[in-house]
Amino acid sequence: MSIEHKIQELLDKRVEAKKGGGDKRIESQHAKGKLTARERIDLLLDEGSFEEFDMFMTHRTTDFGLDKQQYLGDGVVTGHGTIDGRVVYVFSQDFTVFGGSLSETFALKICKVMDQAMKVGAPLIGINDSGGARIQEGVRSLAGYAEIFQRNIMASGVIPQISAIFGPCAGGAVYSPALTDFVLMSEQSSYMFVTGPKVTKTVTGEDITTEDLGGAWVHGTKSGVSHFVVTNEEEGILLIRKLLSYLPQNNLEDPPLVECNDPINRIEEGLNQIIPDNSNKPYDVTDIIHGIVDDGEFLEIHRNYAKNIVVGFAKFNGMPVGMVANQPNFLAGVLDIDASRKAARFVRFCDSFNIPIVTLVDVPGFLPGSNQEYGGIIIHGAKLLFAYGEATVPKVTITLRKSYGGAHDVMGSKQLRGDINYAWPSAEIAVMGPAGAIEVLEGRKILEIKDPEERAAFIKEKEAEYREKFANPYEAARYGYIDDIIEPRNTRFRVIRALQALATKKDVNPPKKHSNIPL
Ligand code: HXC
Repeated sequence: MSIEHKIQELLDKRVEAKKGGGDKRIESQHAKGKLTARERIDLLLDEGSFEEFDMFMTHRTTDFGLDKQQYLGDGVVTGHGTIDGRVVYVFSQDFTVFGGSLSETFALKICKVMDQAMKVGAPLIGINDSGGARIQEGVRSLAGYAEIFQRNIMASGVIPQISAIFGPCAGGAVYSPALTDFVLMSEQSSYMFVTGPKVTKTVTGEDITTEDLGGAWVHGTKSGVSHFVVTNEEEGILLIRKLLSYLPQNNLEDPPLVECNDPINRIEEGLNQIIPDNSNKPYDVTDIIHGIVDDGEFLEIHRNYAKNIVVGFAKFNGMPVGMVANQPNFLAGVLDIDASRKAARFVRFCDSFNIPIVTLVDVPGFLPGSNQEYGGIIIHGAKLLFAYGEATVPKVTITLRKSYGGAHDVMGSKQLRGDINYAWPSAEIAVMGPAGAIEVLEGRKILEIKDPEERAAFIKEKEAEYREKFANPYEAARYGYIDDIIEPRNTRFRVIRALQALATKKDVNPPKKHSNIPL
């Protein structure tokens, strides 16, 4: 064969590989409103940057007549490319080949990009659209999954790992995305569950649809499995690009610094009036976040899950930070099980990847009740406490209003190695709120007063006394637990100065194999 023929053979094979499961199945994929594996990669990576691996790999199974069904690439497209000029590794499952099901070969391809991403220290992005284990391959498919899981675990905290779910993701297959740092799901077209509706019905009698059992909204609002819910794949892919703009390539690098055109000393007058006079009145803490960060840009994570706490990425003077803020607009910003888990995982992510943490505190305490106690609020609240206390990145905490009880300690307090702790003049830092405190301290006297009016006046007077003494930032500042009390409108500047001062911070934990965080 002449060289021209050989080159033509190569080009033909490339065309064949790029067809995946063929035109009919590509049409069917499009008819479902889904992109193909390659179209997704093209959208994700900088134009022309994709370098594909293993386009010619095929499966080795002969059972069930599979020897006669060979597709070049075997159902997953893998390789590397760039996003905003920075290297990333990627795999994209191709539903047009055996429903994107995972074979031994398929797993080998994914493991190859995972290994190389680890070697070079670059993020890994996995696009999932798969019918799970390739049934014809049996136990080799299970082994393939386990090989991937093990690599997800080793990569955790070393390189950022992001999973997009753009189709089915069921059975044990869900555990690879679950081991990664961020999961995003597309509305209508994606679902995740360990056990599908049919088996659920057989085993438990529960009749439930795929969407209600494991759709994007279920995981974005109820389970918290999905950090982002997107309306379509294009939006999801742009979100991945945006997310990466806040992250370093690996745990040995700092997050990417960009030029900032938003004046660092910008005064935000509105903040002086944002806290209502009545301390039980809600307000939206995201208004404060938008007011202080660069250009008001905030990438919220878990926006619809545990809304009583807000977490996400922003920049101060071009430097990425992780923001954690209690949300008085939802359940008064109380800490409960879900909020604790959500914020703990986020704080740990930031600490793993050298991203400073800025915390805005307005928390009335932990949510009381048997539901919370039986659900293990003790353990889950401890996760957040542990995460803050273990984190060695720069930690700047601003108490906006309430900071009561155990929740005060948890939310980036001085004693959990908070580096710079500021408070607004509206801060109330105490063991508990005035109403609760007076009920405990003056309970007997209150009962003795029979006249309701007299009783109410007594309570009011005692509460005012308590508020005067404790519900302010000055008691905490007196002991050095608060470094300074700042004017709200100057918060942006004060946070930037704090972060600048802390940029060279070095803090280490004692040597150990790993900690035993209350899981
Ligand atoms: C082999 C599979 C497959 C699989 C789908 N296909 N799933 N081939 N192994 N697991 C093939 C189909 O035969 C079909 O081939 C093509 O992919 C498209 O599938 P359809 O059923 O036509 O598509 P759709 O109607 O969209 O339904 C998608 C689906 C369904 C819901 C995912 O295919 C399905 O239920 N598949 C089985 C899911 C499953 O039980 N997987 C194993 C789970 S256990 P043709 O040739 O017709 O195009 C598991 C354990 C992992 O994953 C453990 C890890 C530790």
